[in-house]
Amino acid sequence: MKPWIESEMVRKITASVHFDRELYRQDIQGSIAHVRMLGKQGLISPEESEAIVRELQEILREIEEGRFKWKEEYEDVHLNVEAALIERLGETGAKLHTGRSRNDQIALDMRLYVREASDRVCKAIEEVQRAILDLAEAHADVIMPGYTHLQRAQPILFSHHVMAYFWMLERDKGRFSDAARRADECPLGAGALAGSTLPLSPEHVAQELGFSRSFRNSIDAVSDRDFVLEFLAACSILMVHLSRLAEELILWSTQEFSFIEIADPFTTGSSMMPQKRNPDVAELIRAKSGRVFGHLLSLLTVLKALPLSYNRDLQEDKEGLFDSVRTVLACLEILAPMLRAIEVNGEKMRSAAEDSSMLATDIAEYLVAKGIPFRKAHAVVREIASYCREKGKGLKELSLEELRAFCELLDGAFLESLTAENSVKARRLPEQLKGQIAEAKKLLEVKAPTVGKSW
Ligand code: ARG
Repeated sequence: MKPWIESEMVRKITASVHFDRELYRQDIQGSIAHVRMLGKQGLISPEESEAIVRELQEILREIEEGRFKWKEEYEDVHLNVEAALIERLGETGAKLHTGRSRNDQIALDMRLYVREASDRVCKAIEEVQRAILDLAEAHADVIMPGYTHLQRAQPILFSHHVMAYFWMLERDKGRFSDAARRADECPLGAGALAGSTLPLSPEHVAQELGFSRSFRNSIDAVSDRDFVLEFLAACSILMVHLSRLAEELILWSTQEFSFIEIADPFTTGSSMMPQKRNPDVAELIRAKSGRVFGHLLSLLTVLKALPLSYNRDLQEDKEGLFDSVRTVLACLEILAPMLRAIEVNGEKMRSAAEDSSMLATDIAEYLVAKGIPFRKAHAVVREIASYCREKGKGLKELSLEELRAFCELLDGAFLESLTAENSVKARRLPEQLKGQIAEAKKLLEVKAPTVGKSW
């Protein structure tokens, strides 16, 4: 097969083989299904079909062992594989592309890729979820300050706080399965945009590749990249969550907080300051969200106002996708062991939670239970809090007399019972924790949803 682009300049801008070779497995998988269908439909002989399948499998082996010679003059992964096949099988190899266009071929490769990638990301998310669950269980009783506006708000359980991330990740998995479900439609048979005069069987190919169904509209089949957008959106939201977790790890490991210690292997030193242990891994997870958001925005921009059907613009969907998958997996893969190795300074969290100003809401609710309207109770406790600030005293350091000057209903027994521990219990956080841990465990026993059969 002769390369058909003559100008070096044109070749340079159109060539994609240096990045789309990442799709070699999906491409060959699709070609094998296509060729088997051609044989079944009598478009090529059984011998030809077998010979092509065998040679495609040989090419696959060569690629995996690094023996395959990729050539830029053949533009992309599709033409590289096809050219190698023709070189080896002559006229028989030249029958591979019967009834097919690179437009439906690449649409297929991308769907197969997104399907597999969703599965891999979900599995990696589950590992992080397991680490979070173990962390929560190992420190189930540790009390810490809960924050709003990054100001101490109410005493909570550390385990409750970290489990919040479990549920974010659970929703992320749902988004990846959605993207995979939407990609679950086989575009092969759509041709360049409007099918073929040959008696192909798109349903057969769809079935062979484990898709739930074949395309309904050939024009949509070659033009649609929604599933890539959805996948990148799922990656972006996941990275939002990972960056929030990373930020909290960074914050908590500062000397100012000292709530946790990030284990040595996940910190780095400074080239100048010998005492430093920097949380670089967490910082990079926090920062890498940026490139993933960028890839989503980039594809949105590529697709915006793009006329139907296939346009070469669509080739720009790949590098961002591949980089997002690599980035997201790298972050998830290091986060799981990093979370497992975290040292929790329960004492430090506990003593921070002793700050009795965080019990102000409990006092207001005590007054509500005694029949005072909430807004009134709120105002009383607000006054007490400002008195405390003025006197430089904690809520618990006020004498009964001082307190009763604000409200007669406050008594010694209640004051005595006013502790971070009781506050956490009174808000039924231990029960909430137990319930969510039980549910989380049940969820993890169920494997991440897989769409289609694996090859
Ligand atoms: N490399 C192309 C892409 O990624 C394959 C399809 C090319 N089709 C075409 N008609 N030029 O989209």
